[in-house]
Amino acid sequence: MSGVVVVDHPLVQHKLTLMREKECSTQVFRSLANEIGMLICYEVTRDLPTELVTIETPITEMSAPKLAGKKLVLAPILRAGVAFLDGMLDLVPSARVAHIGLYRDPNSLQAVEYYFKAPSDIADRLTLVLDPMLATGNSAVAAIDLLKKRGAKDIRFVCLLAAPEGIEVIRKAHPDVMIWTASIDSHLDDHGYIVPGLGDAGDRMFGTR
Ligand code: URA
Repeated sequence: MSGVVVVDHPLVQHKLTLMREKECSTQVFRSLANEIGMLICYEVTRDLPTELVTIETPITEMSAPKLAGKKLVLAPILRAGVAFLDGMLDLVPSARVAHIGLYRDPNSLQAVEYYFKAPSDIADRLTLVLDPMLATGNSAVAAIDLLKKRGAKDIRFVCLLAAPEGIEVIRKAHPDVMIWTASIDSHLDDHGYIVPGLGDAGDRMFGTR
């Protein structure tokens, strides 16, 4: 599917299967989400530019690569997006964090904004929008709309599971935004849940079932 990268690394796929299982505990679910967040972050940042700098090792002087150019903003959509945050911050501790408060109206399935806070220099940074479940795509599009309004220009969307319907909605509204996911699942059910999915990611992450 164009515009989508499926992170099919065996470690990611194994951990995702453990998360899908309905008996997976809140504690294990949370730590697996962190681990997968870290592994996907590794893939999403694969093309970050580097520049050579001169350093001294204990043995000699050398030219060695360091990250150059754009720094990161991690933008979790509350609340399930927080699942990825710790793992990604472990990998990129200097990243800034934007919080996007959206909930899904259970009847219309439309995204409703209740909180938005983003760094003022977001235009100069690569922004990763985090939401484990790309279902209808309505929250994703609303989050990207808000970030672009704030000035973000370089945006990537990161999820654990994507429904084909959600991918289409993002691709149509924001064709410039690439999507990274661990799996493209079959479809959405009548309640907007991803099938086979993993249930409600926020509830499973925070033990609020
Ligand atoms: N949000 C979830 O947490 N799960 C789904 O299956 C769809 C949206």
